[in-house]
Amino acid sequence: MDFSTFTNQSPAHNDFRSDTFTTPTLSMVNSLATTSLGDAVYNEDDKTTQLEKKVAELTGKEAGLYCVSGTLSNQIAMRVNLFQPPYSILCDARAHVYVHEAGGMSTLTQAMPQTIMPKNGIHLTLEDDILPNFIPDDGEIHSAPTKLICLENTLHGMIFPIEEIKKISNFCKENDVKLHLDGARIWNASAETGISLKEYSMYFDSVSLCLSKTLGAPVGTVLVSDKKFILKANHFKKQNGGGIRQSGLLASMAIVAIDENFEKLKDTHKMAKELGELCESKGIILEHPVQTNFVFVDIAANKISPSKLIEISDKYGVKIYSGRVSFHYQISQDSFEKAKKVIVEAFDYAKEHPFEEVHNFKFYTAENK
Ligand SMILES: Cc1ncc(COP(=O)(O)O)c(C=O)c1O
Repeated sequence: MDFSTFTNQSPAHNDFRSDTFTTPTLSMVNSLATTSLGDAVYNEDDKTTQLEKKVAELTGKEAGLYCVSGTLSNQIAMRVNLFQPPYSILCDARAHVYVHEAGGMSTLTQAMPQTIMPKNGIHLTLEDDILPNFIPDDGEIHSAPTKLICLENTLHGMIFPIEEIKKISNFCKENDVKLHLDGARIWNASAETGISLKEYSMYFDSVSLCLSKTLGAPVGTVLVSDKKFILKANHFKKQNGGGIRQSGLLASMAIVAIDENFEKLKDTHKMAKELGELCESKGIILEHPVQTNFVFVDIAANKISPSKLIEISDKYGVKIYSGRVSFHYQISQDSFEKAKKVIVEAFDYAKEHPFEEVHNFKFYTAENK
């Protein structure tokens, strides 16, 4: 058999659009030869069970549920955390569960979203953001009480401080509010801070950990919580068409991704920080501080033309099609050097030819390719 597709440099070596663009490695594909082939909908697949147990153990939770995507995992987690409407879900105005999950928060849970832009611009705090907006369940019939708070760590690559998580968690426990973590990239937070997944997870009722983003598995997310919660989550997973039959094939590749790639994340942070420092030295305005594997170049504030950015990017043979520059473990050194040139050249061009039109530039649109 010809395995060159998997032994050659990954086609994602020059792709900075997202850390989801990684491709399966030879060891992932090799793991398929020894995987189990049971039906996971019938709970008969050993590899899937092994993956679910592995992530549950890593996070110190009783049980895990392998889901096909982070969106499915977040959406069913929100649903299981809630009982009878009317109620509200409070989250950061930039949270994936609100902005990028096709409105599932309202249609699937019937919740009123309470979206808040943190006062500090980075993460929600109990004092400044949650207390002034919290809606108590006190019999007042005009409002929808806050029954769930969703945090995201990392959010746009920024780390949620553990001390603040503790405060919010205590508040939730005292006020009969559930706390969910969209931990799609909790791996990055843990790799950067040295705080274990277990410690991060202990403050939450449910945690969703993606495997197909920064870790590089081709498919999937594991939702963890207690056994009762996961039983109910499995019910909603099936209802949403999320049952996967021979999911051992996917689970085995995900296990390899955890075992081989978790330790590589810090290097991706180093690259991102180097680009961030270069931007600062040139006066290129960033939207956020660079703390893990993302650099958000503020293309509106820098007056960079979106189409010019794409043109320069294509000229250098790398894919930077928005202000969000993502780093993953398959980015090559050569592509990294080119990426630096793209950003500096786009910025220098903007100084001569400032783009004054309204920016409504999103990183998920078809124009971003
Ligand atoms: C923070 C965060 N949560 C959840 C998701 C959803 O994951 P999926 O694309 O697997 O549905 C993403 C996807 O990029 C994400 O960035």
